[in-house]
Amino acid sequence: MKTVIPSRISAVILLLVVVILGCGSASTERPPATTPPGSATVVETPQAAGGLALTMPNKGDSVKFAVLGDFGTGTREQYELAGVMKQAHDLFKFDFVVLVGDNLYGSERPQDFKKKFEEPYKPLLDAGVKFYASLGNHDAREQRYYKLFNMDGKLYYSFKPDKQSVRFFALESTYLDPEQVAWFEKELQNSNSDWKIPYFHHPPYSSGDRHGSDTRLREVLEPLFLKYGVSVVLTGHDHFYERLKPQKGIVYFVTGSGGQLRKGNIDKGSGLTAAGNDQDYAFMICEINGDQMWFDAISRKGGVFDSGVITRRK
Ligand SMILES: [Fe+2]
Repeated sequence: MKTVIPSRISAVILLLVVVILGCGSASTERPPATTPPGSATVVETPQAAGGLALTMPNKGDSVKFAVLGDFGTGTREQYELAGVMKQAHDLFKFDFVVLVGDNLYGSERPQDFKKKFEEPYKPLLDAGVKFYASLGNHDAREQRYYKLFNMDGKLYYSFKPDKQSVRFFALESTYLDPEQVAWFEKELQNSNSDWKIPYFHHPPYSSGDRHGSDTRLREVLEPLFLKYGVSVVLTGHDHFYERLKPQKGIVYFVTGSGGQLRKGNIDKGSGLTAAGNDQDYAFMICEINGDQMWFDAISRKGGVFDSGVITRRK
């Protein structure tokens, strides 16, 4: 079945959720009552007042991960958000973090890797959490040899967690050459995973006043996403959190405020935003089980501010 139509009961719940969320600070939109064929669906979930009230089902056999971008500044704010990541990990044992680029700002000496990565995330690294990097425009290509980024010397690569039917594809979006695009298509073709999740730095869709949608990238990648059943795409670069309204049935996220923040940069007139936060630093946690992916977006001071469950395209 291609079209997923929420039942009448779901629609009532959705309406209630929207009413409740409307009172909060995150901007949210009412999900459409019906969706076009082949679309991923998003059902938003309400947040409890304040704190780390996660909405993850936290099942034993799920794939659990976090998403972080534009973080490597070494600032107090980066460290504070890293502290919240540790708190989230105490409640929800994510196995790995996908990094959507701009992993280190400024110099990249060994002491910078310590100050901007190893020290803030030490509690997570000590707990065995792995980080899988993609490279942003601020990152030296040599980062691919840095052991703790698990890139195995490659600018672009894919990996598959042990649990569930999921494959991740880390792309290098600063120089998306034809060779990489050909590799990506082959990887998508050869993958029989239910979930195919690309992640990379530059967002094909974004309401950022500073950068916004990278239409050059969109032209090349979107046809592949559509052809090979991608439901969710993770990006950064614009320094805020944004969940976009599904675009041609695909849910895009911008998670670019791990250590940088551009306050007020979400263009509210873009019409693209389903939920956003350009007032505080943020990361995401996600859980995939079967055909569903739950997500919580969490800020440095405000806890969980955007949540929902995405049912993948079929
Ligand atoms: Fe960037």
